[in-house]
Amino acid sequence: MDQQCDCQTAVIDEQKAYQTLLQVIEDYDRKPSNLIQILHMAQAIFGYLPETVQRFICEQMELPFSEVSGVVSFYSYFTTQPKGRHTIQVCLGTACYVRGGKKVLDALKDLLQIDVGETTADRRFSLEVKRCIGACGLAPAVAIDSVVHKRVNPNKLQDMLSQYE
Ligand code: FES
Repeated sequence: MDQQCDCQTAVIDEQKAYQTLLQVIEDYDRKPSNLIQILHMAQAIFGYLPETVQRFICEQMELPFSEVSGVVSFYSYFTTQPKGRHTIQVCLGTACYVRGGKKVLDALKDLLQIDVGETTADRRFSLEVKRCIGACGLAPAVAIDSVVHKRVNPNKLQDMLSQYE
């Protein structure tokens, strides 16, 4: 069967996303003091905050771009890059660090060919680090989405990742 082009659907989805964001900005009365909440909602709607979305917010709120981009870059919660389908969080808390968390992180960087804060080209994985994910007794630990993998062996990462499409 021929594969159908879904670009029209994508355009409509984007239009809907901007309409929703506009409604959010209006609900927050376009007040600069509500900028952080609006950015949180914008990231929830789009998944990330590309420059086009930041500029839309600037125009609607009549704020300089530098003010909006300054807030986005200040808070690590905000991201200007699209996230992968799965988020890998490598624990670098004390227990994990001393039991090889750094080696796990380096092996993942090698395997995925990305750095912390980046996403693979196929959008399969994003890589992050955490300070503790509550599995100190079974360090080193790595969370992938909501699943915590314990006593992670850097040599068996490929097997671990193969469970995720
Ligand atoms: S330090 Fe890694 S799970 Fe607590």
